[in-house]
Amino acid sequence: MNWWQTGIIYQIYPRSFQDSDADGVGDLNGVIGRLDYLKALHIDAIWISPIYPSPMHDFGYDVADYCDIHPLFGTLADFDRLLAEAHSRGLKVILDLVPNHTSEEHSWFTESRSSRDNPKRDYYLWRDPAPGDGPPETRLPNNWQTHFGGDAWTYDAATGQFYMHQFHRSQPELNYRHPEVLPAMLDNMRFWLDRGVDGFRVDVIWLMLKDEQFRDEPANPHAAADARPFDRIQHIYTAGVEGIHDLIRQMRAVLDEYDERMMVGEIYLPVEQLVTYYGDGDECHMPFNFQLINLPWNARVIGDYIRQYEGALPTGGWPNWVLGNHDQHRIATRVRKETEFPGRNSVSGDPARLAQMLLLTLRGTPTCYYGDEIGMEDVPIPLEQCMDPAALQQPELFEVWGRDPERTPMQWDASPNAGFTAPEATPWLPLAADYRARNVAAQADDPASMLNFFRALTELRRAEPALNRGDYHDVDFGIDDVLAYWRTTPGSDWYLVVLNLGGASHLIDLARLGIAEAQMMLSTDPARVTPGIATAFSLAANEGVILRLPGSSDTDTQDGYP
Ligand code: GLC
Ligand code: MG
Repeated sequence: MNWWQTGIIYQIYPRSFQDSDADGVGDLNGVIGRLDYLKALHIDAIWISPIYPSPMHDFGYDVADYCDIHPLFGTLADFDRLLAEAHSRGLKVILDLVPNHTSEEHSWFTESRSSRDNPKRDYYLWRDPAPGDGPPETRLPNNWQTHFGGDAWTYDAATGQFYMHQFHRSQPELNYRHPEVLPAMLDNMRFWLDRGVDGFRVDVIWLMLKDEQFRDEPANPHAAADARPFDRIQHIYTAGVEGIHDLIRQMRAVLDEYDERMMVGEIYLPVEQLVTYYGDGDECHMPFNFQLINLPWNARVIGDYIRQYEGALPTGGWPNWVLGNHDQHRIATRVRKETEFPGRNSVSGDPARLAQMLLLTLRGTPTCYYGDEIGMEDVPIPLEQCMDPAALQQPELFEVWGRDPERTPMQWDASPNAGFTAPEATPWLPLAADYRARNVAAQADDPASMLNFFRALTELRRAEPALNRGDYHDVDFGIDDVLAYWRTTPGSDWYLVVLNLGGASHLIDLARLGIAEAQMMLSTDPARVTPGIATAFSLAANEGVILRLPGSSDTDTQDGYP
């Protein structure tokens, strides 16, 4: 098995993790200073969101130079030191690769837009205004829309053509039908792989190719009456376009030139389409599985999805799970809102803990989002302070779309600015109001804290083959609110995970599985005595437990299950 299969990935949003130079923005030296913290989380790899030179219109997802470091974050020498320090602790480093678009400040684009006959003109997608009357800037080439709201075309008066962008207008899209573009991007990958980077998270990988004929996208018959224009069309000519798999195979081939490197693709697609991005074991090592972000917090629904996903995986396709990232509302906020019953959201009934138990016991690589280990929540940011271009461009959808709330500074301690930046500095986004109570230092000293619970989970996962590589078998206790499954592997102890997503307690009787007793290893509720022997027990609202079935070590034909 590879490190990216048995290991745990932890996403760092570098602007918000740790500032070392009092400018209010996190940086590489800040991350270096926190590597021991990360190591003690029992994670295996860090994925760092973009750190390249950028005008920061989309906070680094607008890359102006693929082969350097933004001075805000440090220097290439700082990066090399981060890599060496991480590797010396046994931590892998995954960079964010943003190949679909560049910044308008990338030299390719400044050349491209300089004249129609510039040799780099067709590195990007330029189109004439549509025929007709009216000023050229109003005659859009087609009906394509941006994910951030608005038309996907921006008119460039100097050369009289439009360029295409599916995100902010400062993020022009590269033309992968031009013979030089992919080779140039592959060289950018080699630049970092040669330095020792362990892999890439590839931004919007399924969008990289666009329809060669630039056809209008058809209406979406399922769109709600008040849907925004983007959702009123079906994205058949801008996403998953024919030829994309071949392009991804060529990217994968570059990773395969090196030992043990990996690529995880950012892909928001339904499961049947998602799994095609494994290819024949020759595309993404993993296409991100984001369904836990979209599904309601419901045991039956999630259990059905796990079965569906497990069933859809191609032979050799390794699963993965995600609860949140820098584009999604924090899981703690989401589940704390979704669970309604007396006593909820107390330490013993915190669904944020239950969500982490789910993520860290499923079969497949978990990707954790910074701060989730201490239960950080979305921080409400008023529109006047909003930084996120996606929200600023569609203020009417600001509540739904704003991504600042999940990007706020890490809460390290109770000092002014939470130890994220110097006390006199101004953090680039405001801190959570509750940071003096919810922070790493306070939780480190509290055996009942979320942080120590998270560390117990990751430690167990790391130690136990059944959890980090074993099979998945679902278990039905016949209770709608209870999601339960076995994790097993021949020759090792087996684990039974029982999660109560509902608001009432339930009796869990192991006899139902033909088991006399098991060992209670860990509960979301710090008050439950662990380890201890369990036979039948009451599982509280929002409680999850992990049980061990010892004595299964020598055989995979244990009585009972699976
Ligand atoms: C991805 C990133 C997101 C960014 C977008 C455009 O979805 O995760 O943050 O805005 O791509 O690069
Ligand atoms: Mg800084």
